[in-house]
Amino acid sequence: MNYEVVLPAAGSGKRMGAGQNKLFLLLEEKPILIHTLEVFQQDENCTGIWLAVKPEERGYIEQLLNRFGITKVKGLPDGGLERQHSVHACIKNMDQVEIVLVHDAARPFITLPIIQKLALTAQEKGAAIAGVRAKDTMKKVINNVIVETVDRDTLWMIQTPQAFRFSLLAQAEDHAEKEGFLGTDEAMLIERLGHKVHIVESSYDNIKMTTKEDLMLGEAILKKRRE
Ligand code: CTP
Ligand code: MG
Repeated sequence: MNYEVVLPAAGSGKRMGAGQNKLFLLLEEKPILIHTLEVFQQDENCTGIWLAVKPEERGYIEQLLNRFGITKVKGLPDGGLERQHSVHACIKNMDQVEIVLVHDAARPFITLPIIQKLALTAQEKGAAIAGVRAKDTMKKVINNVIVETVDRDTLWMIQTPQAFRFSLLAQAEDHAEKEGFLGTDEAMLIERLGHKVHIVESSYDNIKMTTKEDLMLGEAILKKRRE
């Protein structure tokens, strides 16, 4: 199933505390951003990449694309203040395609079988997102006191990619913008339309580079994959 992918890359990486966009940090001598881009560059089903970037970082990112042979990028629109705005900037610039994936540029370890399953499920059902089952006992806590132990069998930790029929995501984003609603992922915007969102079981490897500890995990994942 062919698709185009939107990669929001316009964050500032505050929790990483590196004093720069964390996507430029190196894992085995290659920027995190390039690790992520290479997955889609190498996927023959990916027909185009859209990158939301900070205007002041566009020049440097274009240099990286050249240096690492990333040729599928169709546009690098300005990102926004929030991740949702960055994704929306890409959607507004794209021509209509059948299936669009949204994937955090900060998740470099996503693999092709999961991507393909998401694209196919989105084609069939409209919306499909990656997630993994919660491993720990889960409790709802308010003011440091447990209110409820939640049935773990019903809980999933949500990742990206999130895959959609393009028309459905565009409609959900326009609706959210009109209402000034800010979600923490794209699926929330679709849920608000009353549309079902399906889960595709992903991998615990598909971590988001968020804090310093993730860099260590990232190096370990790359090492394991080379063995
Ligand atoms: N992102 C974006 N536009 C924003 C905020 C985030 O495009 N206004 C992107 C980030 O570059 C990242 C992805 O969304 O690839 C996931 O966001 P997150 O992990 O929160 O990254 P940052 O916002 O950069 O990090 P932090 O929240 O720690 O500042
Ligand atoms: Mg953020």
